[in-house]
Amino acid sequence: MKKRAFIWMVMYLLGLGTLVMAQSPITVTSPGKLVRVSFSLSGEGAPMYRVFYRNQAVLGQSALGFALRDGLLKKDFSIVGSAIRSTFDETWEPVWGEVKEIRNHYNEVAIPLKHRSGALLKIVFRVYDNGLGFRYEFPKEGYEHDIAITDELTTFQLTGDHKAFWIPGDWDSNEHLYSTTRISEIKNTWYRETETSIGTMNLHDRQSVQTPITFRMANGWHMAIHEAALIDFPAMQLHVDHRTLKFSAMLVPSLDLVNKAVVKPGHQTPWRAILLGDRAADLLSSKLILNLNEPCKYEDTSWIRPMKFAGVWWEMHLGKSTWDYAGTQDAGSAQGFKPTGRHGATTENTKRYIDFAAANNIQGVLVEGWNMGWENWYGQWKDEVFDFAKPYPDYDIKAVTDYARSKGVEIVGHHETSGAVTSYERQMDRAFAYMKQHGIHAVKTGYVGKIIPKGEHHDGQWMVNHYIRAVETAAGHKVMIDAHEPVRPTGLHRTYPNWMASEAARGNEFNAWSRGNPPEHETILPFTRLLGGPMDYTPGIFDVTFDQFKKEERVHTTVAKQLALYVTMYSPVQMVADLPEHYEGHPALEFIREVAVDWDDTRILNAEVGEYLTIARKAKNSPYWFVGSITDEVSRVFTLSLDFLEAGKTYQATVYEDGQDAHWDKNPKPVNIRRLNVKKGHSLTLKLAAGGGAAISLKPAN
Ligand code: NOJ
Ligand code: CA
Repeated sequence: MKKRAFIWMVMYLLGLGTLVMAQSPITVTSPGKLVRVSFSLSGEGAPMYRVFYRNQAVLGQSALGFALRDGLLKKDFSIVGSAIRSTFDETWEPVWGEVKEIRNHYNEVAIPLKHRSGALLKIVFRVYDNGLGFRYEFPKEGYEHDIAITDELTTFQLTGDHKAFWIPGDWDSNEHLYSTTRISEIKNTWYRETETSIGTMNLHDRQSVQTPITFRMANGWHMAIHEAALIDFPAMQLHVDHRTLKFSAMLVPSLDLVNKAVVKPGHQTPWRAILLGDRAADLLSSKLILNLNEPCKYEDTSWIRPMKFAGVWWEMHLGKSTWDYAGTQDAGSAQGFKPTGRHGATTENTKRYIDFAAANNIQGVLVEGWNMGWENWYGQWKDEVFDFAKPYPDYDIKAVTDYARSKGVEIVGHHETSGAVTSYERQMDRAFAYMKQHGIHAVKTGYVGKIIPKGEHHDGQWMVNHYIRAVETAAGHKVMIDAHEPVRPTGLHRTYPNWMASEAARGNEFNAWSRGNPPEHETILPFTRLLGGPMDYTPGIFDVTFDQFKKEERVHTTVAKQLALYVTMYSPVQMVADLPEHYEGHPALEFIREVAVDWDDTRILNAEVGEYLTIARKAKNSPYWFVGSITDEVSRVFTLSLDFLEAGKTYQATVYEDGQDAHWDKNPKPVNIRRLNVKKGHSLTLKLAAGGGAAISLKPAN
């Protein structure tokens, strides 16, 4: 791991520690005094906490604790010994990211509790100026055996009926559309009936939501609830009580449906994280989730490289070609199919994508449908579907990888597990060694389907551990991972920076085969799902209507908005998702060719959840800036101040904006391109069409 710019840490014990009497509140205030947490034990010895932002309660009296198989850790606690306070201040450099340096500055208190039964529980609060994290520890000395957790009893008592941006609680999928309602109106029944899904959905509670869930308060403040460092534990979802406005933690269950988690003595839970800010933009610049994660585990990270990639991919989603070599997925599992003649991942077709990538500053080419098994992927819960080291007969992997290398392009591998995860784990070492043998350093994994071991869920403890096992195994072979259909990210890319991105949300692919994503969708994701980590959204579709392939489905944006997504939808791996022939001769391809994927600086120029956002980013080790601006279905005019530019320099701005009369539905394709010279102190006016956007590149002119 790269050396940090500077690190200093101040740890102090308050004298010999603060002796705390039961029931007296313990408060922790953030370094700049914006956030305050107050912990106390109720008269019955129940641990409680409250959170204040700018001296106003944003979480009222909220509960802490667990139900264990061996008993309830809910009340009858006392504080044993001393609460330990510390302060931490460090500036660290991410291996890749939105900014060059991140400051991690918080005040902490660790509160040791003892239950009447003798069980021990430690609760640690880390309080930042833009939120807080707290986690539980089951101290080693308090437990003789593994601890079986049947429920987490944490609650979040909201203090107003805020506007909430949410997707339903689902044990197996995050691929939902967002709803915007008051907290008291959260109800998710309709999803079952109307959604198209390729994932396995498992909705179980009409009043449950997933995290991150984001709130806009009446005074314009914003708050989001999520978790950080999800390791060896199930994902946390939330149940809402409409009357009290209280959210209660619900852990995604495991196979046996009784124990949600089983952990070892000494286990620390993931952090329960609350992000706070005056404005929506503050959520976008928050690094709280990353800071709550552990530093990078790897010594050498030189092999981890952000990239743009094209892919033998969209053409299968459009139905132009097939993943399988013979027959169709619907044709069942009978052997002896004849080649369809429509197989996408052929040597020849892949070379076409390699040529396209090489000509356009695109570093990788993803190839899906390259390996044996796709015709057998039929039905749910089928083991041994794919072979991750056996290409189809018309895909000469050596010829393809040699050709790619000769053109300076890398092949991105693909491991679709179809949810047969035990089979994948059996093959994993062999699969990664096979990639290494062919010089492949990145792989997209996929988990479409019900999980095997049967009864496990995508977001349960067993799968949470699997994703990390895959990432660590990949690291052993210097391979980067882009995971589709995994649990949603919780900032673990700080610790495992070869976990480049995840899908874990409803991506652009839904536009190819469902009613798709409405124009507001991309204006909600950055404030919700992306708070946990990068998303492989797959932007860059130019033929947004693709009538040649499908009449009903389409992308619900203008073309200019597809360009802007490279900046607004942060990821260190960005797909150039459309077919090479759809980019041919299009002048707007220049933006995709030039746009960076790794950044030294990021400025949020304007933002309102579910409405619009504009972000400027400075490319890594480069004086170039790129701006992306997007809107929902409302057309807008923005006048942007260019104050982020370096003083005294003239920049050539190339603006890619919605053309005359553009409209996501009626007229999505016109893109107007204009060039002008600008300087710090200047401003630039952009007109965004309904469902539209704008992208700008800014390069020093001399
Ligand atoms: C779902 C993924 O999200 C998509 O990108 C992929 O093409 C298919 N699964 C097939 O693996
Ligand atoms: Ca997916």
